[in-house]
Amino acid sequence: MDLKLNGKTALVTGSTAGIGLEIARTLAVEGADVIVTGRSQAKLDQAVESIRASGGKAVRGILADVATAEGASALIAAVSRIDILVNNLGIYESKPFAEISDADWQKYFEVNVLSGARLARAYFPAMLERNWGRVIFISSETGLSPAKDMIHYAMTKTAQISISRGMAEMTKGTNVTVNSVLPGPTRSEGIIDFLKSVSSDPQGTPEAIEAEFFAKGRPSSLLQRMIEPEEIAGMVAYLASPLSAATNGAAIRVEGGLLSTIG
Ligand SMILES: NC(=O)c1ccc[n+]([C@@H]2O[C@H](COP(=O)([O-])OP(=O)(O)OC[C@H]3O[C@@H](n4cnc5c(N)ncnc54)[C@H](OP(=O)(O)O)[C@@H]3O)[C@@H](O)[C@H]2O)c1
Repeated sequence: MDLKLNGKTALVTGSTAGIGLEIARTLAVEGADVIVTGRSQAKLDQAVESIRASGGKAVRGILADVATAEGASALIAAVSRIDILVNNLGIYESKPFAEISDADWQKYFEVNVLSGARLARAYFPAMLERNWGRVIFISSETGLSPAKDMIHYAMTKTAQISISRGMAEMTKGTNVTVNSVLPGPTRSEGIIDFLKSVSSDPQGTPEAIEAEFFAKGRPSSLLQRMIEPEEIAGMVAYLASPLSAATNGAAIRVEGGLLSTIG
């Protein structure tokens, strides 16, 4: 299937590793001009090289900490026009509710919500003016069904779905869409530490840690294994494509069937 991404410029945040890297790779291989962002030049160079090695031709890295106002401003100054914005950057941890400090709440809001809201504020109006654009927020299944061991994180993921739906309301009659994608537990750089942090035996084999996580932590998953980042990236590439014009304001689940509700 031709996703018709040739000539489109896509910006993917937090894209030196994990889900973001695979989204950037898929978009680039499908013909989009892709911009990856990260905080370290070495990781950026590695990501760009790895995408090129996969066949992505037009890819460049921009050094910026998108989680800060300064970083967002620098990125916006360096990249004036994009067609596709993928707000992927996000952090997560397991923490008992009573231990989540004011600083934690603020940090999670700043990194997971404000980072994407700032970039959307900068790029979305021009998409509406040009009458084409895609904004995709990488939320989480926990945005619909908050996990009790990461309520501060879940709050940010619900907020992204709300922002996404609210922005979609402004696209009526245009060729711009705004959607959120809700991954479930996905193999990435960051998730390894998370899985160890919730394991009864952090020194165990990766297979044992993963099996215990699904048996005890996420028993309702139908997939009963970690999702591969490519399995998220395929959905995001479709949503980024002109082919997905009829999907707007949606919260698209890619969570391995973990949520048992229909709606
Ligand atoms: N993995 C999962 O199971 C899962 C499930 C549901 C939803 N999600 C969502 O998917 C998105 C990506 O998750 P992931 O697991 O793929 O990410 P990840 O592997 O933990 O991190 C990807 C990149 O984000 C950047 N990053 C990490 N902490 C940062 C910080 N404090 N400030 C700025 N940049 C930071 C890093 O790039 P640099 O060091 O190069 O800056 C890192 O390489 C997140 O929004 C997450 O909430 C993930």
